Amino acid sequence: MIKVAFYDAKPYDKPSFEHYGEAHGMQFRFLETKLNEDTVALSNGCDAVCVFVNDTVNAAVIERLYALGVKLIALRSAGYNNVDVRAAFGKIHVVHVPAYSPYAVAEHAMALLLTSVRRIHKAYNRTRDFNFSLNGLTGFDFHGKTVGVIGTGKIGRIFIDICRGFGMKVIAYDPYPAEGAGIEYVSLDDLFARSDVISLHCPLNDSTFHTVNADAIAKMKKGVVIVNTSRGALIDAEALLDGIKSRKIGAACLDVYEEEADIFFEDRSGHILDDDLLSRLISMPNVIVTSHQAFLTEEALGNIAETTVNNIRSYFDNDGACDNELCYRCGNIERCKNNRKEKCF
Ligand code: NAI
Repeated sequence: MIKVAFYDAKPYDKPSFEHYGEAHGMQFRFLETKLNEDTVALSNGCDAVCVFVNDTVNAAVIERLYALGVKLIALRSAGYNNVDVRAAFGKIHVVHVPAYSPYAVAEHAMALLLTSVRRIHKAYNRTRDFNFSLNGLTGFDFHGKTVGVIGTGKIGRIFIDICRGFGMKVIAYDPYPAEGAGIEYVSLDDLFARSDVISLHCPLNDSTFHTVNADAIAKMKKGVVIVNTSRGALIDAEALLDGIKSRKIGAACLDVYEEEADIFFEDRSGHILDDDLLSRLISMPNVIVTSHQAFLTEEALGNIAETTVNNIRSYFDNDGACDNELCYRCGNIERCKNNRKEKCF
């Protein structure tokens, strides 16, 4: 029986993980707390830990996990910016779920965009109060507008297809352009200058940190709508707020926030929110915030559980080899040079 400490467990995680776990001889220790230096000891006696986007898997945590004999860090997410993959190398293997439903995230990005531009969130509240006035609800047509997509991987390309369905003109920036996808690639500066809507679909790393900062915002069109369903720190939230206050930014749709780790995924109603910046952003009439919800569809939850369980099983059955390993040594962390024929350490 493989024992797995499952951190940051939520009620919606359990059914699918219990279902796939039981079928594969796996026992999950569901822990509501997040993984960090204070909680790492809770994985004592486990073969693996299963973590999500706001668990802290830094060098110190990895050292403790290693000392406890934990062999595998199984991310149940695609993004892995919260794991020090370099520190893990040579000690603990790391696996992730490269794709579970890129449709879920791309569709949520469009849902946020439509809600914001067509003022659906306002209309919903008004009609519940029998207020049928249309004042202040004027939107704009998507047809003919230019959308700039940063990152044309799995999610970005689906978002592009959705936008094309609306008759939008698509331009994109990606240091690794998708061959043959018929996408017009431009420089980041060009994208900032030409886009009516900008949607972020790249990973968070050193080169993408604060992609949207004060300089970038200065280059954008007045009234630009910014959508972020990727990672919060792609946007400098202070600069975003300044851009909204100065009326440069027409609207912001945020499923992620730079400092979300201690706030999102929990019910904070009835509490005083300490984060003034987030409070101020939420108070803006042209900002919509969802709390890292883009992945949350039935299809995605099922795929996440199935792939995570398969990753763990594959690791322990194949002497450490697993298709979805994140390997620091191989340079391109997601594409192991060994082609998963053997393990890297
Ligand atoms: P992917 O790996 O298929 O695509 C990422 C793309 O970004 C690649 O084409 C890559 O070349 C590009 N890229 C790398 N560096 C870049 C840079 N400096 N500038 C512009 N593009 C760059 O990843 P996928 O599945 O499309 O996911 C994208 C991101 O979405 C993830 O990294 C994750 O942060 C986020 N995400 C958010 C979820 C949510 O619930 N809000 C759920 C799943 C993913």
